Amino acid sequence: MSGKTTVLVTGGAGYIGSHAVLALKDAGHGVVVIDNLVTGFAWAVPDDVPLVRGDIADQPLVEATLRDHGVGAIMHFAGSVVVPESVENPLKYYHNNSAKTRDLIESAVRVGVPHFIFSSTAATYGIPDESPVKETTPQRPINPYGMSKLMTEFMLRDVAAAHPMNFCALRYFNVAGADPQGRTGQSTAGATHLIKVAVEAALGKRSHVGVFGTDFDTPDGTGVRDYIHVSDLADAHVLALDALMAEPDRNYMLNCGYGRGFSVLEVLDAVDRVTNRKIDRRMEGRRPGDPDALISDNRAIMDAFPWQPRHADLDQIVTHALAWERKLNEIRGE
Ligand SMILES: NC(=O)c1ccc[n+]([C@@H]2O[C@H](COP(=O)([O-])OP(=O)(O)OC[C@H]3O[C@@H](n4cnc5c(N)ncnc54)[C@H](O)[C@@H]3O)[C@@H](O)[C@H]2O)c1
Repeated sequence: MSGKTTVLVTGGAGYIGSHAVLALKDAGHGVVVIDNLVTGFAWAVPDDVPLVRGDIADQPLVEATLRDHGVGAIMHFAGSVVVPESVENPLKYYHNNSAKTRDLIESAVRVGVPHFIFSSTAATYGIPDESPVKETTPQRPINPYGMSKLMTEFMLRDVAAAHPMNFCALRYFNVAGADPQGRTGQSTAGATHLIKVAVEAALGKRSHVGVFGTDFDTPDGTGVRDYIHVSDLADAHVLALDALMAEPDRNYMLNCGYGRGFSVLEVLDAVDRVTNRKIDRRMEGRRPGDPDALISDNRAIMDAFPWQPRHADLDQIVTHALAWERKLNEIRGE
């Protein structure tokens, strides 16, 4: 039987972490957030959730937080997330994503936290040999971001074998949308996610949207990706927590996507449809390392928990992203 616990959410002031905080609260779990606010926002953390402002590698602070709040699980979202930046500055990524995560895991082991849930990524697959991508598809990252995340998967596997901790690594595909109740959303300035960029353009915050590559091996020549609504992803984390608590000897490494893809042009058409206007599209060259299509095989997560997505609809994802973008104008007084 699964019960309730208190979860330390690292990066809980960021995009995905702030949705996980809401999902945990909605499910009746206790929550405490640690975030150094390097890209997150204090206002994204609900008033009744304690926010510890600090770094995941500050072991005295982390260990005191784990003890003081009686933390029973960690959901680890904190990290650096910009793929091209990781190519220019790999040591930043190996430091913030790999080395600091090592210190966080050490704190968890010292205090005896029994469950750990980790934000991994489809970028660990690199350019996969097969589509849809299964969990057993070889992981060959093609950039330091993906490698820094794969290193954490390896650490967790080894630590779970040596210490009384089980873990779940969730490999996210393309995360998009916002809380349907408008409580949080993607707020980072200069974000590069297609749907975020497109709704910014639809609201006049950008002049156009660049379409990077029109000669991919896809039906319309533009890249195809598996877009997953951030609230469905947050729900998957809560289910992962329940599963880890129910079976303490079992670990999970699971893809998080809907098992279907949309091309860049299909996404832009959806934004035009939802906003009833036409965004200016500029055809540009491919970016290095972009696969033709990246689609998850999601049967494992469907079987394991089982996970029931509630927002697997492109127009709904765009509608929620747009509503949040409008709200962000109010929050920022634009
Ligand atoms: N957005 C996506 O499409 C996507 C896809 C796959 C995986 N992920 C992973 O999901 C996680 C969350 O991503 P996001 O899009 O919400 O990014 P985000 O930048 O909005 O959130 C990251 C949060 O972590 C905090 N943070 C960073 N380094 C920290 C540190 N050393 N100590 C304390 N806090 C720190 C930031 O202030 C921020 O609030 C990341 O680990 C990312 O790699 C994201």
